Amino acid sequence: MNNVVRVERQDEIAIVIIDKPPVNAIGQDVYEELMSAFDALQGDTSVKGVVILAAGRTFIAGADIKLLELAARGEGGRLYLHPLLEKIENFARPVIAGFHGTALGGGVELAMSAHYRVSTPDAQMGQPEVNLGIIPGAEGTQRLPRLVGVAAAVDMCVSGKPVKAPEALKLGLIDRIIEGDLRTGAIAFAREMALRPSHVKTSERNDKLGTPETNSPIFVAGREQAAKIRRNMTAPLAAIEAIQAAATLPWKQGIEKERELADACLKSDQALALMHAFFAERGVAKIPDIPKDLPTIDIRKAAIIGAGTMGGGIAMALVNAGISVILKDNDQASLDRGMAAIRRNYDVSVKRGRFTQETVEARMAMIHPQLGYDGFETANLILEAVFESMALKKQIFAEIDKIAGPDCVLASNTSTLDIDEIASATSRPERVIGMHFFSPANIMRLVEVVRGAKTSKEIVATTLALTKKLGKVGVVVGNCWGFVGNRMMFPYIREAQFLVEEGATPSMVDKVLFDFGMAMGIFAVDDMGGIDVLWRVREERKHLEKAGLRKPLMTDKLYKMGRLGQKTGAGWYRYDENRKSTPDPEVEALIVETARNADIPQRTITPEEIVERCFYVMINEGARILEEGYALRAADIDTVYLSGYGFPGYRGGPMWYADSVGLKKILQRIQDFQRVHGEQWEPAPLLRQLADQGRTFAQWDAEQEKRFASQ
Ligand code: NAI
Repeated sequence: MNNVVRVERQDEIAIVIIDKPPVNAIGQDVYEELMSAFDALQGDTSVKGVVILAAGRTFIAGADIKLLELAARGEGGRLYLHPLLEKIENFARPVIAGFHGTALGGGVELAMSAHYRVSTPDAQMGQPEVNLGIIPGAEGTQRLPRLVGVAAAVDMCVSGKPVKAPEALKLGLIDRIIEGDLRTGAIAFAREMALRPSHVKTSERNDKLGTPETNSPIFVAGREQAAKIRRNMTAPLAAIEAIQAAATLPWKQGIEKERELADACLKSDQALALMHAFFAERGVAKIPDIPKDLPTIDIRKAAIIGAGTMGGGIAMALVNAGISVILKDNDQASLDRGMAAIRRNYDVSVKRGRFTQETVEARMAMIHPQLGYDGFETANLILEAVFESMALKKQIFAEIDKIAGPDCVLASNTSTLDIDEIASATSRPERVIGMHFFSPANIMRLVEVVRGAKTSKEIVATTLALTKKLGKVGVVVGNCWGFVGNRMMFPYIREAQFLVEEGATPSMVDKVLFDFGMAMGIFAVDDMGGIDVLWRVREERKHLEKAGLRKPLMTDKLYKMGRLGQKTGAGWYRYDENRKSTPDPEVEALIVETARNADIPQRTITPEEIVERCFYVMINEGARILEEGYALRAADIDTVYLSGYGFPGYRGGPMWYADSVGLKKILQRIQDFQRVHGEQWEPAPLLRQLADQGRTFAQWDAEQEKRFASQ
């Protein structure tokens, strides 16, 4: 074999190099070749020390997630690294691991079985397993607290965040930072260590494990942290339990406990959902008719029209990626307000230590506020973010068509409107595309890339490359009303409002949605986004509404009362000066009165009904979107919801969640609701078909990939 691990020599030091692009993930091959490398070295008495390094851009970035997923599904054996770790730790001469890039998960666990660790100054190391719903299962929960102490181990395993080399040195995770060439420095370090008479095994280091008295508050705080940042998740709690075992049990028993907990997490629905989310996000960039190597335009200068909430946020996202921006509005006051908001946001980043003042000044200097179109001809991206009005957007696109250079991408940030109609206002519809960012645009990762009927492949590929450069997830969607995210969101909003008209309250519905795992309840979301935004969207769409269908009654009322949400201090909720919300009896009374006037009978609404009405209607719409081809895969819809709508990762996205509930059950409930509430609950044909055939959206996706491959 010897394909992924090679051993080199420099005098009395052996250098074991893992070379498995792109990230040196540990699979069966790496494991076996490391085993035989260490076997061979053990017998070679001329070797006085061993250095473990990795080739390419990073040290081992973790276990092979494909293998983990197979094991999680029960379709493959789990790779147990324990014999290898034992071999390294029991090696008679010093073993030193040398980190560069990002050493993660199994990579760090392997390195902790070595006697020493060194690192480049800029490397990072962490145990991010919790992001996949699992825990470090290769003795990491047992060795990490022995090296860094119980508190830091709990923090690293619960947050999943890596630490940088200087912090790792302070904590004791590494023994030295190597300035200059890592290999040379690591070999010199190995020579130095080889002179020592003995080397302490990490498994025998107990000095940082604390006492029950000192540890107890750490575990309490860790569980509180988990409840806050990893709401409803089992893996962080399991990691804490495993660390607790490290602190209280002898080594061997600690390892057994870790194995038991790690296996349970690996087999959990949460792990499966999170692994699905991981692969779904990586899969969205695959567009069947767009080859990976299609040439793209390098976007270096952008012009944005509209300096409001979205225009300002998008300007920040662009300059943060090194793209200079012209920011245009049509009146000075709006422009000033927009620039002040950008400044305020950056000030917060400085306060939080995310950026230095110099960085912020440099970024502000890259944004050029103005009222006219000067300089637009030199931009290779013009992005429109004015009010959600078709007439206005068409007028603007007609104007920019006259000014834009020939290689310019013309993008709209519309959240619902028809991209083809907008494109029809130009002489070059093939260069027009939707780039639907989410608020706040400098933070939220999702961008729906809306492909119009005439949008060229080059422009789609360019936009996808740009979203990647911005550190965002670009999901290609088709041009239908609301695209994927908002098209599914509106029925969800509608059912939530119907539920309050039927007897629930906004806070009751929001609590159920929050407990389900959503980042926020829907009424809180409406208040944050603005009731006026909802109202405007509805106005634009009124001509499409079918007569005779039940419509939510409250949005218009709140809008007319000037209750626009957080920005006016009141919407569905009331807000204090710190934007903290409280339920508002005035709104609740108004809802009751509105329902009475509309003859809507009042009843007790159960949490179960809230979950079913809100999410099943969303799933039903998702099935329609899939069937109509506006999303390529169910997994793409999941990525939209996970990266842009605060859907909980451990449920895998709405379509994955549907599979986990069972499509038969969902169809049956939808049919029940159809009997009571009428045609807005008409089951999507694809949902009906899959449910009848006992299939899942995941299976539909797998077949879809086959269809793509054969095209
Ligand atoms: P906003 O009201 O905060 O900003 C709109 C800006 O456009 C204002 O500063 C206004 O002065 C300016 N403007 C209006 N007409 C103009 C013209 N003729 N020339 C130049 N500037 C003009 O609105 P927001 O929220 O930023 O929305 C903008 C677009 O982004 C809309 O299409 C909206 O649907 C979409 N969107 C909004 C999201 C949100 O959460 N607010 C999320 C995603 C998309």
